[in-house]
Parts: sequence; C-alpha cells; structure tokens
Amino acid sequence: MAKAKTAYVCNECGDDFSKWQGQCSSCHAWNSLSEVRLASVKSSPSTRSGYAGSNDAVVQTLAEINLEDIPRVTTGTAELDRVLGGGLVSGSVILIGGHPGAGKSTLLLQVLCYLAEYNSALYVTGEESLQQVALRAKRLGLATDKLQMLSETNVEQLCLTAQKLKPKIIVVDSIQVMHMAEVQSAPGSVAQVRESAAFLTRFAKQTGTVLILVGHVTKDGSLAGPKVLEHMIDCSILLEGENDSRYRTLRGSKNRFGAVNELGVFAMTEQGLKEVTNPSAIFLQRDQEISSGSVVMVIWEGTRPLLVEIQALVDDSHMGNPRRVAVGLDQNRLNMLLAVLHRHGGLMVGDQDVFVNVVGGVKVTETSADLALLLAIVSSFRDRPLPQTLIAFGEVGLSGEIRPVPSGQERLREAAKHGFKKAIVPAANVPRQKIEGIEVIAVKKLTDALEAID
Ligand code: TYD
Ligand code: MG
Repeated sequence: MAKAKTAYVCNECGDDFSKWQGQCSSCHAWNSLSEVRLASVKSSPSTRSGYAGSNDAVVQTLAEINLEDIPRVTTGTAELDRVLGGGLVSGSVILIGGHPGAGKSTLLLQVLCYLAEYNSALYVTGEESLQQVALRAKRLGLATDKLQMLSETNVEQLCLTAQKLKPKIIVVDSIQVMHMAEVQSAPGSVAQVRESAAFLTRFAKQTGTVLILVGHVTKDGSLAGPKVLEHMIDCSILLEGENDSRYRTLRGSKNRFGAVNELGVFAMTEQGLKEVTNPSAIFLQRDQEISSGSVVMVIWEGTRPLLVEIQALVDDSHMGNPRRVAVGLDQNRLNMLLAVLHRHGGLMVGDQDVFVNVVGGVKVTETSADLALLLAIVSSFRDRPLPQTLIAFGEVGLSGEIRPVPSGQERLREAAKHGFKKAIVPAANVPRQKIEGIEVIAVKKLTDALEAID
C-alpha cells in the first residue's frame, strides 16, 4: 500500500524534521520550516515482516562486478571532461553552479550542440526564451540542426516530454525556476528545488539519462537550495570568475566518478567560452620589471601543476591593530605563518599591515603555497625584488621547518618548461636526477630559505 508522508524542511539550511517547530534546531533560523510531501513509500511484505518472503537479490564480490558497462561520453571540451573525471557517465546527475553571468548557459549550450551531433540531447530552458537561446547559438556559430529545445518549468510535464523523446542528455536551466504542481511553495524555495531535483534525479536514474542541472549560487558562494541536493547528485561543479575578468574556472567539489578539485580553465570571448589549454601562461602575465613582494609558486590542481603569482604588501600600520588581509588564501594560515616568520625567521612585522593576494583570482587551498607566501612578505618588507626567474614551493611547519609537498618533480618540470631558472624547494623534494634548465636550492629550515634570497 502506498503511504504519503510529509516532512518539514528548513528554507535556510535544508535540514528536515518530522514535526513543525518555530525555530530550526540545525541553523537556528526562525520561522523557516515549510511542509513538503515526500514521495510515497511502498511497504512490501518482506520489509514489514522481517526476513520473510522470497529474496532474489544477487550478491557479487567487487571483482565480479562488470566495469565495462560504464562508458563515458566526451563533452567535446577537454577541460570539462577533466573536471568530470573523463566524460559523462549515463544515468549520472551533474549540478553546475555559478553566479549569474558566469557563463553556465553559454557553456552548456556549446557542449550540448556538440553532443547533439551523435546523441539525442534536450535543452530545457526555464529562464531564457527559446528565441534568446537560438539567437545566442546562431551568434556563436554552433551547429543548431540537431539539438532539441524545450521551454518548460513544470517538472512533471518536462519528464512526460522527455519520456517521449528519450534523450540521452538533458540540461535543465535552471533548477531554481522548476516547480512541481503538488508542492505548494513558490519556485526557488527550498521545498520546490528539493522536490523538483528529486523527481528529475529519479527520472534520470530510471532511464539512464545524463541530467545536468544548472544552479545559482548565493552571495557567499554556496549553491542556493537545500543541502539535500548535494546528496542526490553525483557530481557538483562550480563555474567561477569575476564578471570583469575574461577567465572562468571550473572546479569539481564532489564527484562520484572521478577525483575532485580538478580545475578547468576557460576564457570568455566573443565566440563564447574557449578552453585554455595552458593555464599557467595566463596567470603569469608579469611585467619585465618585477617589483618587490612578488613570487611565483607552483600549486597542484587536481592532476596537474599550475604556476601562479603571489603578491604581498607589507606597510607601516597606522592602526592599533595592524591589518592582515589574505585574498585567495586562508586568513588563519597567513596569521600562523607570520608568527612562524617572527619566531623562526626573526622578522618583526607586528607593527605592519600585511596584505597578500593571489593574482588572477585563483583560490589556493594548498599548504605548498606557504614558502612562496613568506618569501613574498619578506621581499616586500625589505623592499627588495626577487629574481624574475625564481619559483618556490613548500609547506612551512610551526617550528620553522620546510616540509615536502606531493609531486615535487612535476612541479619543477612545469616551472622549467616556462623558463624559470631557480627554484627554492623543500630538501625532500629535490629530484634525484637533475632537471634540465633549472637550478634547485634545497632548504630544510626557514632560515635556509631566507639566506637563499639574501
Ligand atoms: P550566461 O551563459 O548567460 O551566464 P549564466 O547562464 O551563468 O547566467 O553568460 C552571460 C555572460 O557571458 C554575459 O555577461 C555576456 C557574456 N558572454 C560573452 O562575453 N560572450 C559570449 O559569446 C556570450 C554568449 C556571453
Ligand atoms: Mg543562464
């Protein structure tokens, strides 16, 4: 027998409760719970009466499971394929987030026009009119004769149409405008987003369709909508980049079919989004004359190295509490490294404002940036530029030791490829065989590194 159940979902954090309450006990928001109807649960005899009834489920060992059945479809865009872990897997659900104007619709239109040549593909637009999308496709010079378009915001209708068309790939632009008739709250509300996504996900899993959902992000950069969305989908990707910048980065934050934290880089041009195959080159546009406080570091992004410039500005503070500002880096890490610099490097920056910035809007979460960050700060403090052909990487420990980081050799090779001549790296990262064209300076302690730039 089917049973319809209801639950109460918090519009702020997406947590759910069985009873209504005035304040959400997870995020403490007031009056944020709204009622949602859960999908009906079929209670079968075997679940009700313990282990009775027949059970024909097959148990296999891991080795017996057939892996051949997971073909991946390339999206025609190597950067997107990399972030997805090698292409689209059928039946998978992918969420692409980004702020308005990031280029989500443009990217997906380009990808779908390519895919439509060999697979049946359906683009569902709920935000823009069909004419707007068609005009854009024409202007970008895309192949327009195969891609099927649908303007729809009702999820049930959408799935009915999809059932007839049987597309292999569906793009829903965006999940925030989708709604289900039986859910009473407005489109964009947590209840609607959650139920619509759940309905679409079920459809995708049952039919083996690739489902790509577009989602908008909130001001703080997280995906608008409930957390439950994150559990349903297989892959979550963020398209980031400032509106006034030409470059957009694509980063996976969850992927059931590949590694996360892969970075894809695109440039927004008059012809839409173009892949950037050599991203190091764009984040490294340095003037001939290098000023103090600038160092290039090699960070590791997913499966490849990336050269980025880090800048520091150290200046006399006129406030009681000197400012420490980190853009693209972790603020706490900066505070910690300044303490290490004081204690083990003997540099007094307690009365100085310290600003650090990663050029090109790249976000660095790796500890391998520590050494380059400290060298940039020292360079700015002494007002002495470092050599233009110098790179540095390495983690700095609390006792002033320089710790090794993964993939040291590959990082050095990438630096040598881009014409860097000198590298300050942790002693344990020095390659056994010399890398052509680059002099490697091994450092064990922070004082060694400071000596090397003296
Ligand atoms: P869009 O794909 O509509 O963004 P989203 O769907 O993420 O909101 O991208 C819109 C922005 O991209 C808009 O600000 C204009 C810019 N753009 C270009 O610069 N060149 C182009 O060829 C296209 C199609 C858009
Ligand atoms: Mg859009």
